[in-house]
This record gives sequence, structure tokens and C-alpha cells, in this order.
Amino acid sequence: MIKPSLLKFKMNPNDPCWCKSGLPYCDCHQAIDKRLNDLERVGVEVPTRPMLKNAEQIEGIRKSAVINVAVLDYVAENIHEGMSTDEIDRWVYTITKDMGGIPAPLNYEGYPKSVCTSINNQVCHGIPSKNVFLREGDIINVDCSTIRNGYFSDSSRMFVIGKTTPEKQHLVDVAKECVYKGLEQVKPWNYMGDMSHAIKTHARANGFSVVRDIGGHGCGIEFHEDPFVSYVLRKGTGMVFVPGMTFTIEPMINMGTYRIYTDRKNGWTTYTDDGKPSAQWEIQVLVTETGTEILSW
Ligand code: MF3
Ligand code: CO
Repeated sequence: MIKPSLLKFKMNPNDPCWCKSGLPYCDCHQAIDKRLNDLERVGVEVPTRPMLKNAEQIEGIRKSAVINVAVLDYVAENIHEGMSTDEIDRWVYTITKDMGGIPAPLNYEGYPKSVCTSINNQVCHGIPSKNVFLREGDIINVDCSTIRNGYFSDSSRMFVIGKTTPEKQHLVDVAKECVYKGLEQVKPWNYMGDMSHAIKTHARANGFSVVRDIGGHGCGIEFHEDPFVSYVLRKGTGMVFVPGMTFTIEPMINMGTYRIYTDRKNGWTTYTDDGKPSAQWEIQVLVTETGTEILSW
């Protein structure tokens, strides 16, 4: 028996590379493939070919992210106490469309709105509503995703409405620090678990927990691609990072338990089990030859 993923067609050095870069294989993925095959043989989890984007695809994702970032910048400038989350949804829809994009969440597996707005004890996938108004002290995650010319971008930020409690402010700050601690560990040939370790260590050192059941994802050609990006793996475990991977770093950090549940009625909105607050920042990154490029933030 041969492990199916090891069964690849023999490539000659002068064949055009499978990634469709147009370059000969020997000037493109040959060396990486050799290293990946060696790692896979000793049991390391390696990316599949569709996870490795070529230059043209990366450029498409970058352009999609320009819209996503502009939308979040607009939200950052204009979000305020007393407004409804439905108003945020209308901003996202209008700006995305005006800039030539499509809001990726709209009608995605039946999702009814253009953006997710998750307040306080909502962990993610809060659905904008005309009946939900922002109040002083709320912490809210606004999660935007864009399709432009078939390419996907995805990022989210936290916003504090007015002034909040020191505890909630600390949660918001630590959740952001977690993303940057994780990002430092993303470079070719590091493991996903190296990133997880940095994130969960920082969260726990501050007395917080990391959600286990929901994570990040590959993103670019599809909205949600493999791999599943976990923030609770052990150092030196999980998938190895390789140039060309594009995925999200989006740990959900809880003030209390890591346990969560999903709203039975709408099938989307996820809450902390103990009702305590949760915070999340999300960036979309590209693994480069030397480290990372942040595509969307
Ligand atoms: N960035 C969120 C995620 O990847 C967006 C979800 S949109 C939804 O989970 F439609 F799935 F809610
Ligand atoms: Co996402």
C-alpha cells in the first residue's frame, strides 16, 4: 500500500510547475516538494497543493482585502453608542458593493446578513439586528469578509463602545496581543502548534481561556478552506507552514470558561457557556519565504 497523498505523478525539472506560476518546476516548487515529502514520510502533517497559492492568486486576495480593510476602517471611524447593529450591516453591504465586492457572509450557508456583530458574551457569528443597540461599555467584534473577482478576504476587529470596565478592556487588549504573539511564530517550516502555543500561553498567563471548538481557516480561493487553524495545539505539532499558504489567525479569548454553545433558534450565534465576555481579533496572513505578510486586518 502507498499512502495516497504520497502518490504523486513524477515531475521533470523543466515541466511547468503544478502551481500554474508558469515557471519550470525546478525554479518553483521542486525543493519545497522534496522537503514536504520527507516530512510527510515521518508523519508530519503537510499542506496540500490547493493550500499553496501562486502569485496571481495572492494578488487577487490582496485586492479583495483592500475592500475588507476599507470597510473595517469605516466601521472604526463611525461606530457609536445608540446605533443598531443592523446599521453596521448596511454600512458593510453598501461600501463593499460600492468598491466592487460582495459581502461573503450574505447567504453563505443561509446566513442572513453581510457581517457578523458579536457583543460581550457572544463569541462569534452574532447576527446584526434592528433591535440590538450598542450601549456604553459594550465590547463588540465586527467580522467582515469580502469576495472580489472570486477571491476571498476575512478579518475582524474589536470595538469598545465608550468606556468599558478594566476587566473587559484587558480582555480586548490581550486578545489582540494573542494574534501578534501567534503571528511571530508563523514562518516557513514552523508548526501550527508553535503559533497555538504562543497564543494560549499568553491568554492563560492573563487568566483567560481559548475557545477550542471554533478556529481559523484557510481563506483565499474559497471562504473556508483547509486547514482548520487551532489555537490549542501543542508546540511542534500540527501542520507545517509553507510559503503560499493563506489563512486566518482569529483566536477567541474568553474571560471565563472556554466552553461555548450555539443559539438553537438561529443556528449561528455562539455564546460563552458561563455568560462571561469573549473577545476576538482576526487577521488573514500569507506565509512568505521569510515570515508573513498580513493581507487583511
Ligand atoms: N469570519 C467568520 C468566520 O470565518 C465569518 C463567518 S460568516 C458566516 O467564521 F456567514 F459564516 F457567519
Ligand atoms: Co474567518
